[in-house]
Amino acid sequence: MAKPRSIVWPIEEHTKAKHRILRGYLDAWLPIMSKHNTRLVYIDAFAGPGVYAGGEPGSPIIALNAFLEHGFRDRITAELVYIFIEEDEKRVERLTEEVGRLGSLPDRLKVDIRHGVYEEVFGATLDRLKKEQKQLAPTFAFVDPFGYSQASMKLSGRFLQFERCEVLIYVPFRHIARFVSKPEQEAVLTTLFGSDAWRAAKDVEGNQRLRLLHDLFQQQLTNVCDLKYVRSFEIITRHQNSGYHLFFGTKHPLGLEKMKEAMWRTDPVEGQRFADRTSADPSQQTLFAPEPDTSALRNALIARFGKVPFSIEETLDFTLFETPYLPTHVKTRTLKPLEGAGRLRVLSPTTGRRRGTYPAGTRMQFVRER
Ligand SMILES: C[S@@+](CC[C@H](N)C(=O)[O-])C[C@H]1O[C@@H](n2cnc3c(N)ncnc32)[C@H](O)[C@@H]1O
Repeated sequence: MAKPRSIVWPIEEHTKAKHRILRGYLDAWLPIMSKHNTRLVYIDAFAGPGVYAGGEPGSPIIALNAFLEHGFRDRITAELVYIFIEEDEKRVERLTEEVGRLGSLPDRLKVDIRHGVYEEVFGATLDRLKKEQKQLAPTFAFVDPFGYSQASMKLSGRFLQFERCEVLIYVPFRHIARFVSKPEQEAVLTTLFGSDAWRAAKDVEGNQRLRLLHDLFQQQLTNVCDLKYVRSFEIITRHQNSGYHLFFGTKHPLGLEKMKEAMWRTDPVEGQRFADRTSADPSQQTLFAPEPDTSALRNALIARFGKVPFSIEETLDFTLFETPYLPTHVKTRTLKPLEGAGRLRVLSPTTGRRRGTYPAGTRMQFVRER
């Protein structure tokens, strides 16, 4: 989107979708991480004023409320350090006011609002956090700039090399794709991607270019930042050329599963995209809750295992790590109909199993369509 000049600006539908994903994930992250850690850190690297023109909360307030309004707040016993970075002085003032409106905060919740630019403050904050504790406490960073030039892949890369760190980062590929052939943007692109491999995008156009840039960014997050699991969620806004992706990266399978659950709550059909027009047009509202479409999962499983026997555990892992789907989509929604249609044969156990159920250790094989 165009950068607003005012201190606050109207919220858009896609921003609400992004906020739902953020809140959904933090609702799960806080109690899970608090179980085994005495301190957790949340960094909002482009915090904004904490409020939108219609009074809707901004991401810092959403993140604070994830704790303050949590149903299991008493079980979140870790010290919580929230760091908000914002370069615009007036927005810092407004954010300070908005945090103040939350009333007196519990002692174990520390809020640190930094006036400065991400590029400087983020690195210095990490140095300080590291000095205070030998190992950086589990840290979740939300990196949400207006434009791509502000997000430095190098810096994000440095952060993500610490154990137990996760990131949710906004990347507007449609916007970036238009600048690939502009010499003045070269340095910025190389910084963003942490490599000059983006130059290959000059040779292709349209969706191919978008796909190339998307996959390169994903690969760089995985390789340079050493994040084992990276998943993206597409957000299509109403502005021309402004579709973008939210990338989530983590080293932990449970983190991946919780983020995918948050994404599925935002896109209950495919779990991987949100379009502004979907919710803006009331005539498109459906009477019944939308159901997950698992046909792509079925096809992916058939392509992955072919005629080779496989276990239920392999199926669940493949689904979680290699597809946008959740393990909860596997048994009843995907395997059971295939077995019912005679396209899946269960090899073991041979007795004591109810059709359409797949207990631990179940082995099976796809049967070719006749
Ligand atoms: C997209 S808005 C953030 C919105 C906020 N995350 C939310 O969801 O409510 C980006 C914010 O980053 C600030 N900003 C821009 N460049 C920055 C930089 N280099 N360092 C820190 N903040 C910056 C802008 O002033 C703006 O308030």
